[in-house]
Amino acid sequence: MSTSPLDNLAAQKAELLEKVTSLSTLDELKEAEPFITGKRSILSALQKSLGQLEAVARADAGALLQEARREVEAALEARRSILSSQARAVALESDRLDLGDVVVSAVTVPVSVGHPGLVGSTQRELEDVFVGMGFVVAEGPEVETDWYNFEALNIPPAHPSRGMWDTFYVELGEPETVVLRTHTSPTQIHLMENAVANNSLPIHAVAPGTCYRRDTPDARHLATFHQIEGLIVDRNITFADLAGVIETFTHAYFGPDIESRLRPAFFPFTEPSAEFEITCTICRGEGCRTCSNTGWIELGGCGMLDPAVLSAVGIDGDEWSGFAFGFGIERCGQMRHQIADMRALIENDTRFLGQFS
Ligand code: PHE
Repeated sequence: MSTSPLDNLAAQKAELLEKVTSLSTLDELKEAEPFITGKRSILSALQKSLGQLEAVARADAGALLQEARREVEAALEARRSILSSQARAVALESDRLDLGDVVVSAVTVPVSVGHPGLVGSTQRELEDVFVGMGFVVAEGPEVETDWYNFEALNIPPAHPSRGMWDTFYVELGEPETVVLRTHTSPTQIHLMENAVANNSLPIHAVAPGTCYRRDTPDARHLATFHQIEGLIVDRNITFADLAGVIETFTHAYFGPDIESRLRPAFFPFTEPSAEFEITCTICRGEGCRTCSNTGWIELGGCGMLDPAVLSAVGIDGDEWSGFAFGFGIERCGQMRHQIADMRALIENDTRFLGQFS
């Protein structure tokens, strides 16, 4: 009985198919491929051995072998596609962004949206205190004529008292006739002119806003700063009313344990005039660099309206009297929060600024 190289083909093929099914990764498949369908496989070895057969037998055997090879190759390809889709799924899974992580990071990464600065929030707190005392809040322009900033306030041109306010002039009209306001006192003039025009006296108003002086910034001064002006024009107003308002304000804003005092001073638009001071909150009165070792910090000026100012705006000083005050808003915030050097407000250090959110 003649033997053929393909006598065991069925069993050999079954073994190869079993081997294919057992492959569990693409790497394993790659490694095994030469032994299953490649040069080192039994199929290739059988192919070679067919050479010894007679031509007819060789053709039949060749066809048989070819069919077995096709079957094994198809099984191998099917296995490859299963394994590669499995590998893709594993890769996708490990790349996937965990939604839990995304939500957690959205919550924990701080998003900075900004907040009102110390000056703005101090201004609002001061307005609140004065509104609580019956004042209304008004506003005046930052660019003023010489008349509003000086002359109507009883400061004639070239008067030595102008030296109290180092002025920025605006190049507009005649030289030195338009200024960046050096204080909020010109709002007194606007308020009184309006009240006269509208026949709406009395006035109980505060007017906060920005002021400008040709000054070098130091621990207590900035060149661009803010004041809040106060103005009362009414009947029978005395210095006692002024002192009472200042005292009430001090305790409402700084608390009951902060002392205040009025010291005689001079302003061309008030008579008598006073400087309003409180205990330095940085050294508690001991004396320090911020208060130049006096233990006191000047917050602003005040006084009874000078008759010359009332007559400049056409108010009858026999019927009406009043007082005015002007406080530095930065100074108030500085004392409230014990800031040793006011320049910190304009240095843009977010570690400092962020404390007042
Ligand atoms: N305008 C004055 C200043 O800036 C302060 C002040 C206001 C004084 C009102 C008296 C009355 O120095």
